[in-house]
Amino acid sequence: MTTQTTSAGGALRAKWDRASRTYDWVTWGEVHRFGDAKTRLFARMTGRCLVVAAGTGGDFAFFPSGLEITAIDVSPAMIERARPRAERYPGKLELRIMDVRALEFADESFDTVATSCTFCSVPDPVCGLVELRRCLRRGGRLLMFEHVRSRVGPIAVLQDVMTPLSRRFGPEMNRDTVGNVLRAGFAIVREENVYFDVVKAIEARRSG
Ligand SMILES: C[S@@+](CC[C@H](N)C(=O)[O-])C[C@H]1O[C@@H](n2cnc3c(N)ncnc32)[C@H](O)[C@@H]1O
Repeated sequence: MTTQTTSAGGALRAKWDRASRTYDWVTWGEVHRFGDAKTRLFARMTGRCLVVAAGTGGDFAFFPSGLEITAIDVSPAMIERARPRAERYPGKLELRIMDVRALEFADESFDTVATSCTFCSVPDPVCGLVELRRCLRRGGRLLMFEHVRSRVGPIAVLQDVMTPLSRRFGPEMNRDTVGNVLRAGFAIVREENVYFDVVKAIEARRSG
């Protein structure tokens, strides 16, 4: 496991550096509740893999062993907390500080890109997804475990009301992530509702 540092944006980084202090406590229940669904989704990771955004590395335990993984996050504090988990991963797992909207990888560098609760948090999500598409080889897989805006009216309204507060400390509750994946030029292969239509496992492909 190695770590490299590159420049990344100030306010965004500061917000997630702060969140890193309590992140494992706040998400403890979710990690256990959704572990099976994540294991099923990430079982499709193959070849050279990019993980966006690593957070504290809670998801590394759900990845198949023996892969060659580069995991990025914009927050240095998140990356530091992820380090012990990266060291325990039974394969090759490199951590790098990087903004998904400005990836420092060549075109078509990866066979798989995996994300978990990431595109609720990245500002300009379509910009980040376009970057992922660029770095994914043609035919490569995008695997996403994400919470999104519900299509059920009252739930969606509640998410809209909660978002101005939630975004101050962490993620947004009302992202149209499936729509954003399509807008970035991916083709949706599979969309599984894991918890109502709010938590989803999504598989997409770079077709062209
Ligand atoms: C809700 S946390 C999810 C962390 C981890 N994937 C998990 O499921 O536990 C969102 C993560 O996205 C990272 N992040 C936010 N904006 C980012 C960006 N533009 N580029 C890379 N990482 C970003 C944050 O630092 C944070 O670690």
